[in-house]
Amino acid sequence: MKYLIWANFKMNKSTKELKEYLEVFKSKYACFLHIDLMIAPVTSGLWIASELLEWSCINLWSQNMYFEESWAYTWEISPSMLNELNCTYVIIWHSERRQYFNETNEFINKKVKAAISHRIRPILCIWESLEQKNKWLTKEVLKIQLIEGLWWVEDVSKVDIAYEPVWAIGTWETATPEYIEEIHDYIRELVWNDESRIIYGWSVKPDNSKQLISIKNVNWFLVWSASLDPESFLKIAEVE
Ligand code: PGA
Repeated sequence: MKYLIWANFKMNKSTKELKEYLEVFKSKYACFLHIDLMIAPVTSGLWIASELLEWSCINLWSQNMYFEESWAYTWEISPSMLNELNCTYVIIWHSERRQYFNETNEFINKKVKAAISHRIRPILCIWESLEQKNKWLTKEVLKIQLIEGLWWVEDVSKVDIAYEPVWAIGTWETATPEYIEEIHDYIRELVWNDESRIIYGWSVKPDNSKQLISIKNVNWFLVWSASLDPESFLKIAEVE
């Protein structure tokens, strides 16, 4: 199984900044064969990133996608439009999509299936809130998200999973290595094939990535803040 590491820029970087970033990153990244490395720019940067990353070992990732092919869906982008941009992965259901844009399990399930049918590999994000964690509902919540997100997906090995302990945002709490191991083990029990990666996504930084990759069933990371600087993202990608 190849490790998976994803830089999600969220709504950051102008086209000029993105171009500068990719030029620096491409010139320094050693292209490890055991790692799938992805960069997910904002939608306005997909075209330039697609041109700059062509023939490189860095994959282009979209931060979102709609499940229909075309019609009156203002601001949306379809799977075949992502195919045109050589976008091979898509993030589905990042916690912010659910919190701020009210995406439901049923809605994201349509996206997962549409991505697979267009040969785009979805990364399905799952997570629990602080309230759910405090009520000891974490495992139940994650299980429901997986069941509903992957409903009628014939081949689950075509999907990767990202676990985000979002309850740690703005609190003094952090997920301990023991907690991360317990949750990743549990997800692995539910998603038991050998091809789906289970990646971890919260506060991954150059100084904690070594410890995090030593945790069983952490098949690497999704990174936001520490990915915005190419040197810091390189340190995480080259941690071994
Ligand atoms: P972070 O963000 O890497 O800054 O913790 C993670 C995320 O929101 O996906």
